[in-house]
Amino acid sequence: MSNPSILILPGDGIGPEVMGEVKKIISWFGDKRGLTFDVSEDLVGGAAYDVHGVPLADETMAKAQAADAVLLGAVGGPKYDVLDFSVKPERGLLRLRKEMDLFSNLRPAQCFDALADFSSLKKDVVAGLDIMIVRELTSGVYFGEPRGIFEENGERVGINTQRYTESEVERVARSAFELAKRRRNKVCSMEKANVMESGILWREVVQRVHDEEYPDVELSHMYADNGAMQLVRWPKQFDVIVTDNLFGDILSDCAAMLTGSLGMLPSASLGAPMENGRPKALYEPVHGSAPDIAGQGKANPIACILSFAMALRYSFDQGDEATRLEQAIEKVLADGVRTADLMGPEGGTPVSTSGMGDAIIAALDASL
Ligand code: NAD
Ligand code: IPM
Ligand code: MN
Repeated sequence: MSNPSILILPGDGIGPEVMGEVKKIISWFGDKRGLTFDVSEDLVGGAAYDVHGVPLADETMAKAQAADAVLLGAVGGPKYDVLDFSVKPERGLLRLRKEMDLFSNLRPAQCFDALADFSSLKKDVVAGLDIMIVRELTSGVYFGEPRGIFEENGERVGINTQRYTESEVERVARSAFELAKRRRNKVCSMEKANVMESGILWREVVQRVHDEEYPDVELSHMYADNGAMQLVRWPKQFDVIVTDNLFGDILSDCAAMLTGSLGMLPSASLGAPMENGRPKALYEPVHGSAPDIAGQGKANPIACILSFAMALRYSFDQGDEATRLEQAIEKVLADGVRTADLMGPEGGTPVSTSGMGDAIIAALDASL
């Protein structure tokens, strides 16, 4: 049987830097655990635009469709801000999500004990935190029509459309309930049903899926603005949060700070199960290309490495190895190894991106 395949798309800015550390980790699992992957690499975002004039070449799209898992670093950067909207780096990522139909975006926010003191919130509020945001990823205002910039009554008008079909809400709701069953059995659905018809439909459909298929899961509904406030007031009230594409984008950056840094938050974007029982899948950190620190070896690679741990768990049935990797990260943090974004007010000497990767590999070695 052939090895499972991974397509690596490092992208732009700190993307290639953090992905460099993931490549070391993949090699470690091959050398030390006999988990061998067929790894190939290609371009996405600005890096693809520079070579192909588009942020995702059709051949790359085809490779992504065929891969067992795609790992993506980050896309975008100031150099590309002037480009026409249709070829901006971010369009490449959105095309991958849409064409692979990756409707369920899992963004877990876990506070490692060693970082509980470091969050901008009080230790009590974040210690032991473990929540999962499920963000709808292929619809909503990101993709709704009509959209564009039009002339109207002698001035320009910018239009985007929030649009959800029942089946789009149903499938992401199911994904949230399924996750909750394996966690603390609680789902909170967030929308703005008080002001948006799409929110009314969202709430009704989530409730129906619950009543018909998951009556034993505890379900609550919350307006997304209150949800944002509750996330910083007392985040431990949540287990699984399910929400739309735009609210999920914003709420997950917010949740990132509960863990200490945006450089800590991984994600898995999953489609429906294929014939082999596995979902199409793309794994990427929640953070972007961080132009302010790119090229300086300062980026925290943990979000990207934790995204690979999610790949081990969700695409390759290697839950134990995923746990091994997560525990190695926990140990390194407990030992006080910190990239610059994790330095508290007391200061100290941060390690570089590769210093963090090396420390995690040493902890993996020690786990054998
Ligand atoms: P960003 O996430 O790139 O950076 C926000 C802040 O967090 C910056 O101060 C950055 O230095 C810091 N940060 C982010 N990741 C870090 C890491 N791993 N280690 C240490 N610090 C880290 O968001 P932005 O500045 O708003 O966007 C920059 C570019 O990235 C834009 O072009 C945006 O469109 C793109 N972007 C891409 C993705 C993606 O590829 N999935 C996600 C978000 C933003
Ligand atoms: C994210 C990013 C993307 C989004 C951009 C880069 C398209 O912010 O993955 O969180 O808005 O979904
Ligand atoms: Mn985002």
